Amino acid sequence: MSTHSSRQGREMKKGTSRRDFLKTTGVAGAGALTGLSLSRFVHASGQDPILKIALIGCGGRGTGAAANALEADPRTVLVAMADAFEDRLNSSLAALKKNHGDRVQVTPETSFVGLDGYKKAIACDVDVVLLCEPPHFRPMHLRAAVEAGKHVFAEKPVAVDAPGYRSVLESTEIARQKNLCIVSGLCWRYHKPTIETVKRIQDGAVGDIIVIQETYNTGHIGGRDRDPNLTEMQFQLRNWYCFTWLSGDHNVEQHIHSLDKALWVMHDEPPAVAWGLGGRQVRTEMPRYGNIYDHHAVCYEYANGVRVYSYCRQHANCWNDTTDHVFGTKGRAVILNKWQIEGAVNWKYEGESTNMYVAEHQALFSAIRKGEPINNGVYMARSTMMAIMGRMATYTGQRITWEEATNSQEALVPSAYTWDATPPIVPDEQGRYPVAIPGITKFV
Ligand SMILES: NC(=O)c1ccc[n+]([C@@H]2O[C@H](COP(=O)([O-])OP(=O)(O)OC[C@H]3O[C@@H](n4cnc5c(N)ncnc54)[C@H](O)[C@@H]3O)[C@@H](O)[C@H]2O)c1
Repeated sequence: MSTHSSRQGREMKKGTSRRDFLKTTGVAGAGALTGLSLSRFVHASGQDPILKIALIGCGGRGTGAAANALEADPRTVLVAMADAFEDRLNSSLAALKKNHGDRVQVTPETSFVGLDGYKKAIACDVDVVLLCEPPHFRPMHLRAAVEAGKHVFAEKPVAVDAPGYRSVLESTEIARQKNLCIVSGLCWRYHKPTIETVKRIQDGAVGDIIVIQETYNTGHIGGRDRDPNLTEMQFQLRNWYCFTWLSGDHNVEQHIHSLDKALWVMHDEPPAVAWGLGGRQVRTEMPRYGNIYDHHAVCYEYANGVRVYSYCRQHANCWNDTTDHVFGTKGRAVILNKWQIEGAVNWKYEGESTNMYVAEHQALFSAIRKGEPINNGVYMARSTMMAIMGRMATYTGQRITWEEATNSQEALVPSAYTWDATPPIVPDEQGRYPVAIPGITKFV
């Protein structure tokens, strides 16, 4: 390997193009990564290669993720962007240029608008793709990125239905075979105090786990009035948070952060069964609030008897709480926002904190440069599926097993990915969307 490596170093000094180098080392090439340590090459040449980034989904998080990626590694540049809507892309690009200057090298030729823009951004000369669009599109865009041999940062959640979950698992395997990185935006996994607390719980600090309580009870979020100039697809895309087929519902889109911590504590093993209740009591106006619920309460049962009680609610003017409590035979732990263990072991995290949003990109770029791929695919798919399973339970009122949930054939897809297509739900003559009713809505 060292002979190979030093030969590459000599070739680069003689002027090998960056693209050729990345192809040879596998940084950008599909399946070409051979385990060659890029850091060795870096020492030989004295400089890290520039890694090029494409951003797909240029909203709040996408703009933030691109900034985090540029901050995480000084030899990264943003070269391509794609968004469904031109105004979103333009405002994101302007903000990024203002804050990051010539590290943002996106041109009109590498700016792509529309529902197929992702394909063109992925096809650009880029090494890394940031997937920050609404969750519905993640399985499709992830598949396209790994098939094209690109490393991926994938925001959470990564699907809205079981076919999407299964697709993400397949893409995870394709990425593994090609030695590509998939880093998940489940950011608490990159947060030092949380990592240290979960590690101690997994090492037995609270004894055997009996119960985990997860809450994401927060204020009002979402909603948009219809603009008569928009097609139904355009309106739903602009208002994606309020449509189950696009966001997964808020227990999937937001509460996944809590469920992922429970999954992590349980060594990434999924629960056996879920049952629960939920509804839509406050956020009822249509078409403004689409078809999602505004509260869910779900009990996840594990085969070994552990139960995860999970609550999420988005109502204004209520008592709010977003915490994770783990109760065991020898004590209890609070992850957010105390990072503390009490009982047989008494401990509190006293070290420094980290910016988890930057840390996840540092992990990604460092893995690419070392040629040691990180693949968060399995846990990001499982925590997404855990949340979808909870939604299946609250929408139907049924007790649903992991087996049933993961094999569900319900595919939340529009007739096509065009602006005049028919979304999976459409309003009736009064402009009202169908909302799931427990006991009536069927598990599919
Ligand atoms: N990890 C975190 O803490 C965190 C925080 C916020 C959001 N998120 C996640 O990031 C994702 C985006 O959330 P946001 O708050 O940025 O939403 P947003 O609405 O601000 O941005 C989404 C962008 O995607 C664009 N878009 C829609 N469909 C697209 C498509 N098919 N192709 C390309 N672009 C498309 C939209 O036009 C919009 O600009 C969500 O999955 C959300 O759950 C994660």
